[in-house]
Amino acid sequence: MTNALTVDVHLDPDWFERTLRADVLEGLTGSFKELPPKWFYDDRGSALFDQITRLDEYYPTEAERTILRARADEIAITSGADTLVELGSGTADKTRVLLDAMARIGRLDRYVPFDVSEGILRSSSLELITEYPGLRVEGVVGDFEHHLDQVPGGGRRVIALLGGTIGNFGPVGRKALLTDVVSGMQRGDTFLLGTDLVKDTGRLVAAYDDSQGVTAEFNKNVLHVLNRRLNADFEPDRFEHVARFDDTDEWMDLRLRSLEDQTVRIADLDLDVHFARGEEMRTEISAKFRRDGVAKELAAVGLELERWWTDPAGDYALSLSSLR
Ligand code: SAH
Ligand code: AVI
Repeated sequence: MTNALTVDVHLDPDWFERTLRADVLEGLTGSFKELPPKWFYDDRGSALFDQITRLDEYYPTEAERTILRARADEIAITSGADTLVELGSGTADKTRVLLDAMARIGRLDRYVPFDVSEGILRSSSLELITEYPGLRVEGVVGDFEHHLDQVPGGGRRVIALLGGTIGNFGPVGRKALLTDVVSGMQRGDTFLLGTDLVKDTGRLVAAYDDSQGVTAEFNKNVLHVLNRRLNADFEPDRFEHVARFDDTDEWMDLRLRSLEDQTVRIADLDLDVHFARGEEMRTEISAKFRRDGVAKELAAVGLELERWWTDPAGDYALSLSSLR
């Protein structure tokens, strides 16, 4: 009998060290400070994100769940898929809605979660093999930017990128990510994409600056990660969380602002980083989309938008596309 769960790890400890060092050197030594958002997601960061998804102010998770509940059967039937690949799977909470629909039509065979965070991928995979007897789970621990070619092929697949995660990349990063997704697609595969939509600025800002301060803690988690992994001495209390909507680029722009003039030591890089009082470091963008823009970005990589569904409030969209 084959094992129900396999986990293929492409991120060895060396990878973390090399990549984090390179990102920190590049991001914190120029005139505009910036760190990529993938470093939020150690075990604590993944748990904080899970808490964010339960906040009243953070509407995307429930909006996406509403659409999935309404459309999962249609997705299962039109795709005819026996395999669900999920990029940035996290806790795989909403994933169950899709797995249930695939099971209802007797097609469910395999789930392939892909995530940079090994802890969350292993715990969610273990839950799923218990909940879905007979399901094969082939986890891949990797980085979207480097390891998408490691996603196993075979079967007929829905490749899902949910939660609005695509918005955490800028236009250039999105094009690269979508190009890699398409390179790995076989005829008959379907791409399922979740995109948060442009809306009232007040609601957007509230979603990223919640009243309980969970998002602020999530944002500052990157400082804890740098302290632990690179022997840095960031004091998170000396930074404040900033969340603004940039209406030119139509993205939420998350930053950490230095509350004072300070110098941080990053021992493993033998680097001192100076922050002026009020200086900001960008830690994440979260782009908000419109239908035309999504269709264009998909078309640019050879995908045709076939279905577009929103929740009743029009806050969030899920789309299905396939190779042209
Ligand atoms: N899809 C889930 C989780 C979204 S949170 C949902 O809809 O709620 C984003 C997820 O993507 C996290 O689990 C994080 O660990 C993962 N992630 C972020 N950057 C990544 C990268 N560069 N490569 C692979 N996974 C990444
Ligand atoms: C994972 N990603 C889609 C979230 C978002 O909304 O951009 C991450 C997040 N950052 C702050 N709150 C949530």
